[in-house]
Formats: sequence, structure tokens, C-alpha cells
Amino acid sequence: MCGIVGYLGNHEAAPILVDALKRLEYRGYDSAGIATVHGGRLERRRAVGKLVNLSDRLVHEPLAGKSGIGHTRWATHGAPSEVNAHPHYTGRVAVVHNGIIENFRALREELAAAGIATETDTDTETVALLTHHHMSQGKSPVEAAHAALDRLEGAFALAFLFDGEEDLMVAARKGSPLAIGHGEGEMYVGSDAIALAPLTDKITYLEEGDRAVLTRTSLEIRDHQGRLANRPTKTVALDATNVDKAGYKHFMAKEIAEQPAVIQNAITKYLDEAGTGLNWPETLPDFSQVDRLTMVACGTASYACFTAKYWFERIARLPVEVDIASEFRYREPPVTPRTAALFVSQSGETADTLAALRYVRDKADHVISVVNVPESSIARESDTALPIHAGVEVGVASTKAFTCQLTVLFLLALKAAHDRDQITTEQLQDHLATLRALPGQINDALTLSDALRDIAHDLSDASDVLFLGRGLMYPLALEGALKLKEISYIHAEAYASGELKHGPIALVDPTVPVVVMAPRDSLFDKTVSNMQEVIARSGRVILITDAQGRDEAAEDVWHSLALPTVPEVLTPILYAIPAQLLAYHTAIAKGTDVDQPRNLAKSVTVE
Ligand code: F6R
Repeated sequence: MCGIVGYLGNHEAAPILVDALKRLEYRGYDSAGIATVHGGRLERRRAVGKLVNLSDRLVHEPLAGKSGIGHTRWATHGAPSEVNAHPHYTGRVAVVHNGIIENFRALREELAAAGIATETDTDTETVALLTHHHMSQGKSPVEAAHAALDRLEGAFALAFLFDGEEDLMVAARKGSPLAIGHGEGEMYVGSDAIALAPLTDKITYLEEGDRAVLTRTSLEIRDHQGRLANRPTKTVALDATNVDKAGYKHFMAKEIAEQPAVIQNAITKYLDEAGTGLNWPETLPDFSQVDRLTMVACGTASYACFTAKYWFERIARLPVEVDIASEFRYREPPVTPRTAALFVSQSGETADTLAALRYVRDKADHVISVVNVPESSIARESDTALPIHAGVEVGVASTKAFTCQLTVLFLLALKAAHDRDQITTEQLQDHLATLRALPGQINDALTLSDALRDIAHDLSDASDVLFLGRGLMYPLALEGALKLKEISYIHAEAYASGELKHGPIALVDPTVPVVVMAPRDSLFDKTVSNMQEVIARSGRVILITDAQGRDEAAEDVWHSLALPTVPEVLTPILYAIPAQLLAYHTAIAKGTDVDQPRNLAKSVTVE
């Protein structure tokens, strides 16, 4: 992961770099650093921990200069210490890196054999040392950076700055995204366009294997074979003001609250003008020509896929397999004819998901992606990219992106069902009418925040929590457990309710709260039986249901919550709200860092 930025211009670089890094901090916050060239001299400042520590340091030890590079780190190789913080620097060159240099051990040995010692535990340092080595042998900075790049295996977005060169930067991309921003007599580099949003909306995306040489007024890009490459410069509509808490205490709270509006937006984008029919890009396949759908994603996005499997199979009668990308990519699964592959990713840059997409690229009949970042690598490498229109999601724990993913996947399942003659046009319209009512019901669910705060207060003492759900609620239980563990650090596991008696029930005792997600649906009675098995063993149950479910089954539970009643097929989208709020309030009760939980990063561009 990690975020990188670069600036060549006419203003002081340090404040610009730090401000851009703020918008990249979601990619990692173990340490941060910048380097600038001033009066021909390359210098750097670094600090462990969040960006604010670097800002504080710069107050006491300012760094002048109108060209610079910066980095915010999610540690892969080496502890999050100052010595391992980027930029890595040799006196003649400074380097910032996002990704992993897989052959760094071999490179280190080569450097050692040449009498060049390493000082850090990082893979990136070898890039700086190699470049320096080539410069010492008489190569120009650009030639030396290229010679170093020739030796690198793995994934990287890199930016190089050189001693004595105030108007020169080298940038390169392989496996990790990199955007070049154009200003008036200024050039920028960023891991994404959002980092550069207040500075410029003119963006050139580097493609796989590209290398760029920048000055304040020029950009030269060469492709992986060294040929001059003409990459388009696009005007990107990004609103930097979106990256703002808008009065909320946390981005996560803001993003939870935004869900009625962004889901409404996502629905509207895929409906026709009358709001009664679907409106898709023409490139989408006719699902009557598809025999199998393979869905691949990571983390929360994979739970969106697991939920959608129920929709595609039950409503569209289309066989679906769902896999997590890190397993899929190495299993080399056979891809049968008439298979469509669907990849779900908020960031559109998740390394495992992208690698899985590349594996099926030439095997599947059609590659579809459901992404939040339309310019992302996953979107660009798909036959059809379907944006979820959630707006920028900053909180590391995904919330609004998850429910928007579900919304778009539900609409896609309806298209598949209609294409495959599994639902009539009237039935399609009925589904759309109930979906259009959902944002209002989500609004109502958000009013239960205070009740969930009280429940969370009691939950926050637990060391372990179980989540149970059946059918459409099973993936939701998985998501609820993931949300709770990632931001409150409470150990949480989810099981299909029917699986409880096959092992996990041994964990049940009064110290392990059990969250049961159970709308009054066709499987309610079955789930309630499993819940009773928990209660019979002195387990404390938090029942999340609707009014009827509460009337029928809440008698012996510890806490219960009644959500609005919605059609069974839509329950996963609605029940995501209490799952998110429960995790949020528990994290607040525990005093953890909600938006930037430990050890995590928003965009996982390493495998
Ligand atoms: C959890 C979370 C992660 C992501 C996962 C995939 O709250 O956000 O599990 O869902 O890292 O990320 P994307 O969707 O960007 O591919």
C-alpha cells in the first residue's frame, strides 16, 4: 500500500506535499516523510506514526525547496520506525515507493558484494542504492533510475528525486497505480487523482510498465519497451471537498450517514428516466448467453459478492461461484465457456483482485467490474466497469461502498433474471419500486444509532463476539464480524446459524455475546431455533430483527433491535446499517482509532 506524491513547481513544496499526503493517509499511516531539493541540495524529514507527527516536525525543522516527493507508509518490510520510513535517501537520490520489490534480497546481496551496505529493513532502500550506484558509475540521474528500474521485480509505483536537480523527477509504475497531474508551470505525481484534486484536475494515468521523466513544463512517458508513449490527459471530476468530515466526528460516521443519499444516487444511475426500467452500458452481456458467473473480491467486497450469489442464483437462476481473490488467483481454476467474471472492489486497485482479473481476462467471455473509482486499474482492465457512485470513502472500514456495491449487484441480478426470462417486466418493475423505497428505510434505520450506542456500551467489555445469520444474513454476519474486529479490535467470528451446532457452540458461555441477524423472513424460525440453542447455554443474545421478529422472539434475549420491515431480498442492504453502527459505537466506547484502525490501510496494493 502506501501513498506517494511528488511536486515540481514554483511554490514551496513541503506544504503542498503534506497536504496531498493527508488525502493519501488512508493508504497507510505507520510513518510519513518528504524530501525536497533546495539550493541544489537534497534533504529529507521523516516521522513515525501519523502525518501530524511529520507536520509537527516540519514546524521545528522546516524544509525549503520547490521540488519534492512525499510518502505515507503502510509497513510491509521492516517495522514502522524512522529508519524504515520513506523517502529512502543516499545523499544523491531520494526514492518513495508504493508496492513490494520482490527480489530485494538478491539485490541487497549484489549491493553488498559491491561493498554497498544497507541500513534499513526495507525493500525500497535497494532502489535508492542501486540508482546511486549507477550514478557513481557515470550514468545521468535519468539513466541511473532506468537502470535500477530494469532490475526490479514485483509491484511498484516509484518517484525519484535527485541531488543537484531542482527541475527533474522520474516516476514509474508497475502493478501499483500512479497519476501525473498537470498545472501551470507545475507537475504533480500522486498515487491517485484524489491526492491531487485541489491542485489540478488534468490527469495522465501511467499504464503498466510506464516510466515518466518530469520537469516543471514537460512530461515524457515511455512504455515497458522503452518506446515513447502518448497517454491521454483527462479532465477528472473530483471534488476535494468530499474528503472532509462535514462536521462529523469521524469519516466513518459521515459515510454511514450518507448511505440513503448515495444508495439513491446509485439506483438512479442505473434506472431509465421513468425510473421503471434498467439502464445499463451497452457493453454488458445478455445474461441469457451466460451459463456461469464467477465473482471475485477481497474482504468486505467479497461479502457483497457472497450476498449477490443468493440474488443471482435465487432470482436469476444463474449458477455463481464466489471466491476471495488471494485464493482464486493461485488456484488456476478452469474457466468454462459462457462464463462471465465479475470483480468487486471499492478502490479498484486491490492487488489480489486485479491479479485475479488478469488471470481470467482472456478466459472468460466477459469481464465486469463493480468499482467506486471509475479510473482505477480494475475498471480500466474490465470489458464493462459499473461504478457504484458512493463518492470518496475515506474511513478504512468500508461502509457506504459496501451498501452501494450491494445495490448495484442487486440491480445486475435483476437484469440477469430478466434476460434469462426468470422474471417478467412487471416483476422487474415491482422489484425496482421496492428498491426505490429502500433509501427512506435506511434513513429510518439510522435513527436507531442511539439504541445501538447503548448496546455497544455493553458489548465493549467482551473479548469475543459471535455473529450468526442464515441465508442472505450469513454474508451480513460475516461483514458484521469483520467491521467489529477491524475497528474495535474485539475478536469476532461469524457462522451460518445452522453451522453453530457443528462446533462453534462450544464457545458459547455468558462472556461471549452472540449477535443474531434475523429479519422475520422465510428462514426466521430456523434461525430462532439456533438462537434458542445459544440461550439454553446461558449465551447472551443481541437480536437484530424487525418489529414482528421482535414480538415473536425477543423474550429471552439480552438486547433486541427492530428495523423497518423490507422485502426479504433487500434485507442485506438494510441490515448492514446496524452492523456498521454496532461496530462504530463499540470502537468509540473502546477509544480506538475509528477511521485509521491499527495495522490496516484502505487500499491494499500488495498481495
Ligand atoms: C473492510 C474493508 C476491506 C476491503 C478490502 C477490499 O472494511 O474495507 O476488507 O473491503 O480490502 O478492498 P477493495 O474493495 O478496495 O478491493
